[in-house]
Amino acid sequence: MSNSATPLSAAALPALAFIGGGNMASAILGGLIQQGLPPALIEVVEPFEEARARLAQEFGVTAQPAASQALARCALVVWAVKPQTFAEAAAPVRALAGQSLHLSVAAGIPSESIARWLGTEAVVRAMPNTPALVGKGMTGLFARNQVDAAGRALVEQVLAPTGHLLWVDQEAALDAVTAMSGSGPAYVFYFIEAMTEAGIEMGLPPTQAHQLAVRTFTGASALAEAASEPPSVLRARVTSKGGTTYAAISSLEAADVKAQFKSAIRAAEQRARELAVEFGKA
Ligand SMILES: NC(=O)c1ccc[n+]([C@@H]2O[C@H](COP(=O)([O-])OP(=O)(O)OC[C@H]3O[C@@H](n4cnc5c(N)ncnc54)[C@H](OP(=O)(O)O)[C@@H]3O)[C@@H](O)[C@H]2O)c1
Repeated sequence: MSNSATPLSAAALPALAFIGGGNMASAILGGLIQQGLPPALIEVVEPFEEARARLAQEFGVTAQPAASQALARCALVVWAVKPQTFAEAAAPVRALAGQSLHLSVAAGIPSESIARWLGTEAVVRAMPNTPALVGKGMTGLFARNQVDAAGRALVEQVLAPTGHLLWVDQEAALDAVTAMSGSGPAYVFYFIEAMTEAGIEMGLPPTQAHQLAVRTFTGASALAEAASEPPSVLRARVTSKGGTTYAAISSLEAADVKAQFKSAIRAAEQRARELAVEFGKA
């Protein structure tokens, strides 16, 4: 199921906690506050003093350096720490938020490990991506069996300001989500870089080359999303035999770029599987 950001009645939201107050936490809580969630309903645990000061200044949220009893009032705990620090951060929270639903955005950590570290089956795992920082994210979600419809709805409400959401039925599918949308912005940036460099090599000023490259990606993506035809048809439509696009696509095909790109995505999927084993051990 895919759904775009639904208008949020922030007033209807219960108290929320964020463990880790970095980029991802800021993207989520910033979006919620913008939509009217009172900062007083948000608890943040963030050991880094500078990050706490930034949260206070940017969002009016008071963050604590360590987990405290205040977490017990939170219906949802969002885990936005680096995968390497998850197990360590989980230990002091285990006794405080046993009744809460837990939503992890940490890359790679299997929900089974999270359930074990926190002593609860109420766990949803999310794989967001960096466009969430500008409200244009694509997040894959997986819920453990014990999470009910109300729990899923709460997660959807909380993540709605970050962009689009997609539930998967099998946790293994999150490895494919990681390889596609999770790591995907880097692939797009890579192509934007190449296109910009080509523009500069053809004599365009760098700012113009950058603009042409970025806006081509934004425009083509918007068209692909709006069109009823698949991308292959949209591509064929602008590729007349003997023309300029034809010359470019023929050159890509001769270099087997599609196969190379597909194998790059499979390499990311493989790495996601390995990281799950590595990070989930503790
Ligand atoms: N950014 C993305 O677009 C993106 C996309 C997909 C998935 N993710 C995942 O989301 C997670 C968070 O990423 P991020 O970019 O938000 O990272 P980040 O900006 O580094 O934020 C992580 C925060 O957690 C804090 N922290 C560390 N140990 C802690 C503890 N024991 N208790 C509480 N807080 C602790 C860190 O503080 P210190 O600085 O003091 O260590 C840091 O402020 C990662 O697992 C990442 O893989 C991120």
